[in-house]
Amino acid sequence: MLSDTHRQPDIEIAELIDRLPKVELHVHLEGTLEPELAFRLAARNGVALPFASVEEMRAAYHFTDLQSFLDVYYAACSVLVAREDFRELTRAYLARAHADRVRHVEPFFDPQTHTDRGIPIEAVIAGILDGLADGQREYGITSGLILSFLRHLPAEAASATLDAAEPWLDRIVAVGLDSSEVGFPPEPFAAIFARARALGLRSVAHAGEEGDASLVARTLDSLRVSRIDHGVRAATDPALMRRLAESGITLTACPNSNVRLRVFSTMEQSTIRTLLEAGVAVTINSDDPAYFGGYIGDNYRAVAAALALTSGDLYRLAANAINGSFATAERKRELLDELEGVVAPGRGR
Ligand code: HPA
Ligand code: ZN
Repeated sequence: MLSDTHRQPDIEIAELIDRLPKVELHVHLEGTLEPELAFRLAARNGVALPFASVEEMRAAYHFTDLQSFLDVYYAACSVLVAREDFRELTRAYLARAHADRVRHVEPFFDPQTHTDRGIPIEAVIAGILDGLADGQREYGITSGLILSFLRHLPAEAASATLDAAEPWLDRIVAVGLDSSEVGFPPEPFAAIFARARALGLRSVAHAGEEGDASLVARTLDSLRVSRIDHGVRAATDPALMRRLAESGITLTACPNSNVRLRVFSTMEQSTIRTLLEAGVAVTINSDDPAYFGGYIGDNYRAVAAALALTSGDLYRLAANAINGSFATAERKRELLDELEGVVAPGRGR
């Protein structure tokens, strides 16, 4: 564990974080695969994992950059085979999210990671939808599923994936773009994002994680997304921050991920405070919690401790997530009412 992700905020702030009704807008379902479940699924499906034990698997999670993580993350997905596996993965995440008071979630899944190894897309999507329905019934967690394309694969493959997902598009809220950022620019995906929009889908894309601020601007220009996933590098460009603030673009920051993947060498270097002060609608999320040492509550606590967040900051971060979600206006109102019962808007930053 890195010590800088485990500093604790003061007790009142920690209690407030526990009580905040949370909305999570940046979590990869494949990144919630805990080693215990990976081993159980490996045994059930007759798949070999390159680790002798759960402990050995967890101990191997030392990453030097985004790609070193993605190699491990894609390899571990080999244990996900049947519809029931995707349902269990989704249920396990929602149980953990419920413990952190997550009320609404918009998770990503990467269909190509599974279809490219011969898993039918139906098993992937139907299994995840089963799990999301379980979570709504058991915990009241509402959701909007995001189909994410892998940017290291050609745009034609993304287009074929959208075609294959056609029977389920009424239960998918948005398309996304993830995987290796540097060397895989957004522009080749402009046509498919336009097609997704024409089909009534919203859109989001990863940018400004390893790539610099110019990639955030290029992603907005070419893909016309309503949220940027990560986007934390935008803080180096005041004009871009003004553009983000004025256009109401939500950034889905993932603080523990950024430290684990060395986007920032310490949590104190996180740009979340700078973004808040510039009026950018930044939010706090977990990204790949099974790999980065914590779920959304841990991420809130780590940032609050490192950046001395106030109750006004916490209100703003939680409200940004509600307002930036694709939930209905009615659901947003419910969540804002619940939030305001816990913390007053205050002056914020
Ligand atoms: N960045 C890009 N792709 C990803 C990530 C990330 O942080 N996590 C899972 N896929
Ligand atoms: Zn991500």
